[in-house]
Amino acid sequence: PPPSALNLDNIQGDILSGLPKKTQTYFFFQITDARLFRSQLVEFTPLVKTVAQVIKDRKAIDDHKRKGDKTLITMVGVNIAFSHKGFAFMGIDDANLTKTETIFEMGQKKDAQSLGDKGTTVGSEFVPDWEPEFLQDIHGVILVSGDSHGTVNKKLQQVKEIFGLAQGPNKSSIKAVTSIVGDVRPGKESGHEHFGFLDGISNPSVIGFDKDPNPGPKPVPAGVLVTGHEGDPVATRPAWAVDGSFLTFRYLFQNVPEFDKFLKDHPVPLPGLTPEEGSELLGARFVGRWKSGTPIDISPFRDDPELAADPKSEEGFCHRNNNFRFQAEGSFQKICPFAAHVRKTLPRADLEDLPPNGISIQKNRIARRGVQFGPEVTKEEKLTGKTIHGRGLLFACYSTSIVNGFAFLQKSWANNPTFPPESATEVPGLDPLIGQGQRKLSGTDPNNPSFELTLPDFVVPRGGEYFFSPSLKGLRETLAV
Ligand code: HEM
Repeated sequence: PPPSALNLDNIQGDILSGLPKKTQTYFFFQITDARLFRSQLVEFTPLVKTVAQVIKDRKAIDDHKRKGDKTLITMVGVNIAFSHKGFAFMGIDDANLTKTETIFEMGQKKDAQSLGDKGTTVGSEFVPDWEPEFLQDIHGVILVSGDSHGTVNKKLQQVKEIFGLAQGPNKSSIKAVTSIVGDVRPGKESGHEHFGFLDGISNPSVIGFDKDPNPGPKPVPAGVLVTGHEGDPVATRPAWAVDGSFLTFRYLFQNVPEFDKFLKDHPVPLPGLTPEEGSELLGARFVGRWKSGTPIDISPFRDDPELAADPKSEEGFCHRNNNFRFQAEGSFQKICPFAAHVRKTLPRADLEDLPPNGISIQKNRIARRGVQFGPEVTKEEKLTGKTIHGRGLLFACYSTSIVNGFAFLQKSWANNPTFPPESATEVPGLDPLIGQGQRKLSGTDPNNPSFELTLPDFVVPRGGEYFFSPSLKGLRETLAV
């Protein structure tokens, strides 16, 4: 499709802006009465928060902060997305979506083996080791984000009433499959995922949407994230499928005490570092960033708090924090391991500068919108190095192709030991966080880059689904009747 202006009133807010959140509930449901559900969508759709509304919300939050007020303003946002099974159950022809996205048509459960999730084969069927809820059919998900559990629960209650859930099963058009609550971590860990690393720093800037992007990876055409625009891999879309995006959800458990213990037991033996510093360096080399967010490509052997605390942007993220390309290290990994999580999932110069003409990675970019779940690590877990309470990441990302986006990153990059491709001597190995398969990587010791470290599982997938998040117009004029 040609370049076109984005209609911010027509796009669900989470896709381009991320719904503002301290807490977020993912309500997964099955539709039980398609006709009733579609008629109730008429009442539901006005609750759906658009990009335009999120921009207003964010401005209100900023104004409030600027006044020096440390309290949170009441804020809530609702979005909705459907799986292929959901569209089919509603009688919506989604052939335009499934044509190129066969994994959307199959559903994530059938894609789990190919993603590398563990499971058992029963007869000819592979059953992933997922939470039982995610082995059921899921037709859709309603996301409710907000400043507090109170606000979110009140809004969720209103949503449930619209679909008749409050009146008991006979009056309702849907059935709850499961609800998962995610919470931003407390205090100074806010914005950090459970292993302790600042997250949400690098998301694609969008041409025609982000007015003043920080220096970093090239902005993407809007169609990488929003259907029907330049960069959308599908040339034509029916009206209801324009201004939407595929939403990948993954229920990822993180073995945090085990991760910490592993770092403690395997400090990088760099001369001049204490064992604690060596452990910290190993964690940074797994991620490609220090816990503060400082990229190791810029500050390889010690964290640079000044760089991390650069006050340039309002979120406290650093102006230079995303301005690196692994450019100086095309064929070596002294500065950053080839397999480091951020190098695997956005290889920058590793592909863009690959001889002879480079490979564009614009089509592989995703907008990540995850949130943490589960409690902080307890004393007992710290002492034993063993997880007792489940915690991790409700991973969510948007793109106009799951095949080029999430699934490609997981299968062809994170799980692929020979990616990135430029090293003749050292096999990069797997992404130490999310890689599934023979879990080992090279490059953790800068002075001995071919040394390979074998890893236990740090991230365990326990569920997920592929969804499509339609436009407001699609919801109003096609899905709701
Ligand atoms: C970046 C953690 C799962 C894709 C990051 C960063 C952290 C992180 C700390 C650096 C912060 C930033 O650049 O914004 C995690 C953890 C995960 C997880 C703990 C699992 C529990 C995934 C998955 C994917 C993914 C499943 C996709 C298959 C990315 C991408 C980036 C990133 C694309 C940005 C890379 C860049 O632009 O430089 N992640 N992540 N992550 N992650 Fe993950």
